[in-house]
Amino acid sequence: MSEATPVQIELEGIAQEYPKPDGSGMLRVVDSIDLSLTPGITMLLGPSGCGKSTILRMMGGVRPLGVKTPTEGTVTIDGQPCDGPHDDAVMVFQRYANRPDLSVRENVAFPFRLKLWRDKVPESEQKSRVDDILREVGLADKAELRPHQLSGGQNQRVALARALVLRPRILLMDEPFGALDAQTREEMQALLSDLIADHPCLAVFVTHDVTEALLLGDRVLVLSTQPARVADDFTIDEPRPRSTLWLRSTGARALEERILDQLHA
Ligand SMILES: Nc1ncnc2c1ncn2[C@@H]1O[C@H](COP(=O)(O)OP(=O)(O)OP(=O)(O)O)[C@@H](O)[C@H]1O
Ligand SMILES: [Mg+2]
Repeated sequence: MSEATPVQIELEGIAQEYPKPDGSGMLRVVDSIDLSLTPGITMLLGPSGCGKSTILRMMGGVRPLGVKTPTEGTVTIDGQPCDGPHDDAVMVFQRYANRPDLSVRENVAFPFRLKLWRDKVPESEQKSRVDDILREVGLADKAELRPHQLSGGQNQRVALARALVLRPRILLMDEPFGALDAQTREEMQALLSDLIADHPCLAVFVTHDVTEALLLGDRVLVLSTQPARVADDFTIDEPRPRSTLWLRSTGARALEERILDQLHA
């Protein structure tokens, strides 16, 4: 599949069950999910523990050890059944997972140590991609520092850079800014908005933050309590970057209430 072909993820009749911790059978955490995802930013919200991370992992074909995932239904990417981690999908987590023994530059270049990415990206291009993305995330002057010499926001920039250096067609983010203070979080939201504009892809972003969903989402999916189903699904047409003024508009406030009502239903 060429980079120019718009990527598509389909979830059909998805259910997920996990063994209960006390061994008394299975717990159904996700039920009857049908979704079709296309490029753009989809924000995924839902009550704590409802199954957001489970569904996000499925979208990239990632499975927890020893658990059949999904228990029912199929995930297809570009029309092909997805039965393992998909080459085109990269994930970013709240714990940014930077290697403490490597510099910022080495952390960002780390995926090129893997055969998959070494084979896909010529060596001459790897260095220029790393330089470019370091500049784009504002870390060009920090390239030789180690993670412990960076702030939380800067460490999350490293994690984003390590994902985007691969120019992924699918970018799956699990509460990437969840551990950051309010001001840093706003900076990172603005940065992500710019980065996605420059690197269009199919992005799915799990968040607990309704304002974050309104600022970043082309589409908003709200899940119900466990077992998770899609409780609401709408698009936001306002172009990014979205201003504070827009957030205060009647239209944006109505969307905020719509999400909150669903989350508290
Ligand atoms: N590998 C696993 N084995 C057993 N149970 C699991 C496993 N992974 C998740 N669960 C259970 O499935 C449910 C959904 O978990 P998941 O992490 O997908 O929820 P979430 O919506 O991302 O939660 P949070 O908002 O806290 O991040 C939880 O009850 C969790 O305990
Ligand atoms: Mg989660």
